[in-house]
Amino acid sequence: MQHILDQLKEKRAQAELGGGQKRIDAQHGKGKLTARERLDVLLDPGSFEEYDRYVEHNCVDFGMDEQHIPGDGVVTGSGTVNGRLVFVFSQDFTVFGGSLSERHAEKICKVMDMALKIGAPVIGLNDSGGARIQEGVASLGGYAEVFQRNVLASGVVPQLSLIMGPCAGGAVYSPAMTDFIFMVKDSSYMFVTGPDVVKTVTNEVVTQEELGGAVTHTTKSSVADLAFENDIEALLTARDFIDFMPLSNREEVPERPTADPFDRTEPSLDQIIPANANQPYDMHEVIEKTLDEGDFFEVQPAHAGNIICGFGRVEGRTVGVVANQPMVLAGVLDINSAKKAARFVRYCDAFSIPILTFVDVPGFLPGTAQEHNGIIKHGAKLLFAYAEATVPKITVITRKAYGGAYDVMSSKHLRGDLNYAWPTAEIAVMGAKGAVEIIFRNKSEEEIAERTKEYEDRFANPFVAASKGFIDEVIMPHSTRLRIALGLRKLRSKQLENPWKKHDNIPL
Ligand code: HXC
Repeated sequence: MQHILDQLKEKRAQAELGGGQKRIDAQHGKGKLTARERLDVLLDPGSFEEYDRYVEHNCVDFGMDEQHIPGDGVVTGSGTVNGRLVFVFSQDFTVFGGSLSERHAEKICKVMDMALKIGAPVIGLNDSGGARIQEGVASLGGYAEVFQRNVLASGVVPQLSLIMGPCAGGAVYSPAMTDFIFMVKDSSYMFVTGPDVVKTVTNEVVTQEELGGAVTHTTKSSVADLAFENDIEALLTARDFIDFMPLSNREEVPERPTADPFDRTEPSLDQIIPANANQPYDMHEVIEKTLDEGDFFEVQPAHAGNIICGFGRVEGRTVGVVANQPMVLAGVLDINSAKKAARFVRYCDAFSIPILTFVDVPGFLPGTAQEHNGIIKHGAKLLFAYAEATVPKITVITRKAYGGAYDVMSSKHLRGDLNYAWPTAEIAVMGAKGAVEIIFRNKSEEEIAERTKEYEDRFANPFVAASKGFIDEVIMPHSTRLRIALGLRKLRSKQLENPWKKHDNIPL
C-alpha cells in the first residue's frame, strides 16, 4: 500500500514541476511567478483543490507524441478568497509556452461549467503563447469553446482576467469578454497582431509594450482596468476585488462587518463646493467620505478621468459608484466617459449591486471630434444603461446638472429611486451665461449681466427641480452618508422588472 501512496506523491510532484526547473528559473528570471505560485498568492492557504492534474495533450504531430507533460500547460480547480468560493485557471508558461491545446481548453471549460452550475466567479490567470501551433485547428476549436462559455457566463458569474504574460491573436478575445482585466506592467501584453505584423502592414514601428502593454490598455484603449507593478500586487488586489463581488447573479451582494457608523456626519462636505462655479474640487473626497472606512476600489482610474467608477460599501454591503469628476475636463460627458460608465452600470445591474451616482456635470463635450466619432451613439450607451437598470439607484447632485447630461446621470425620469440634491445644486438646461447669451442675443453687456443674474437666481439652485418632484429632498452635504445608508436599507426589498424581451438592443 505504502508504495502506491508514494507513487501518487511522486506523480503529483512531477505534475507540479510543469515544464521543469530550467523553465521555472527562466520564468522567475523574467520577474514572473509560476502558474502554481500565482494560485498560492491568489487563494486562501490550503484552499486550492486541483482538477485534471494528469490530463495530457492528444497531439502526435511534430514530435509531440514524445513530449507529454501532465496538466498540459494549465492548472485548474477551485479555491477560496477570504472564505468565498472561486474557480480558477492559471496558464503555465513553462509547459509549451502555456499554449492552448484541445485538452488545455477542455480543462478551462470544465472549471467554467462548474462555476456556472454552482454560481461562483471565474478568475483566469493568462500567460500563453496562444494556440498550440502543433495542434492547428484543434486548438482553434478549443478557443471557441472557451469564448462560448465566456458569453454564457457573462452576467451570471463575475469573470476576472489577469494578464500576466503574452496574450495575443484571437486569444485576447476570451479576456475581452470577461468583466474586468488586470494587467502586469512590462511582463504582459495583449494585441490582435504583434509589432512584426504591424510593421509589415502599416509600416509603424512600435514595441510590444507601446502596442499592447498594461499602460497602453489602461490609459488609451481602455481594454484593461488596472495596471500593476508585478504579479503579487495584481494577485493581492484581485483578492480585494473579489471581496466586493456577489458570487453570482443569484446571490445578494456580500456583507461584512464595519465599525463605520451609518449616521457618521461629514461637516467638511458642507464646505467642499467652491464659491466660484468654475472652480473644481475632487469628487473622490465626496465618495470616500460617504463610503465605509473611505474604502473605494476604483476601476479604470487612468482612462476617462472625467468620470469615476468603482466599488465601495455602505453598512458593509457592496455598492457601485459612478461620479462626474470636476477636476478632469470639468466633469463633462464625452465618448470615453460614457462608454466607461455604461459598461460599469450594466455590470452592477447584472449582479444586483446598487448604484450611487454623484452628479456634477456641465453637459456633453462639444466639438467635431466628438460628433464625428459618435458621441450620439456612445452617449446613448450610458443613458440606456441607467434607464434599463433595475437595481436600487440613489443619485446625489452636488453642483451642476445641466442639459441632457442631467437626464442621463440617473435622473428621476430614468427610474432613479432616491434623487437628492445638495443646496449647491444647479439643475438647468445650461449654465446661466450661455443660456442668457442665446435668449438675449444682441443685447448690451449690461443687460446680459443683469439677465444672467436673474437666470442664476431662478435656476442655479435645486428648488425648481424639487418643486416638480424631480428631486426627492434637498439634503445637507454633511448628512449624505446617512441619507444614502437609510435609502439603501429601504431599497433592499426593491422589486422592479423590465418587460420580457429576448435581449435589448443597446446602441453598441
Ligand atoms: C506551441 C509554443 C507556442 C505555441 C510558445 N511555445 N508559443 N509552443 N505553441 N503557440 C513554446 C516555445 O516553443 C518554447 O518551447 C516555449 O513555449 C517558450 O517560448 P519562447 O519563444 O522561448 O519564449 P519567449 O521568448 O518568452 O516568447 C514567447 C512568445 C513566443 C512571444 C509567446 O513564444 C511566440 O511568439 N510564440 C508563438 C506565438 C504565436 O504565434 N501563437 C499563435 C498565435 S495564433 P521550449 O520547448 O523551447 O521551452 C493564435 C490564434 C488564436 O493564438 C485564435 C483564437 C481564435
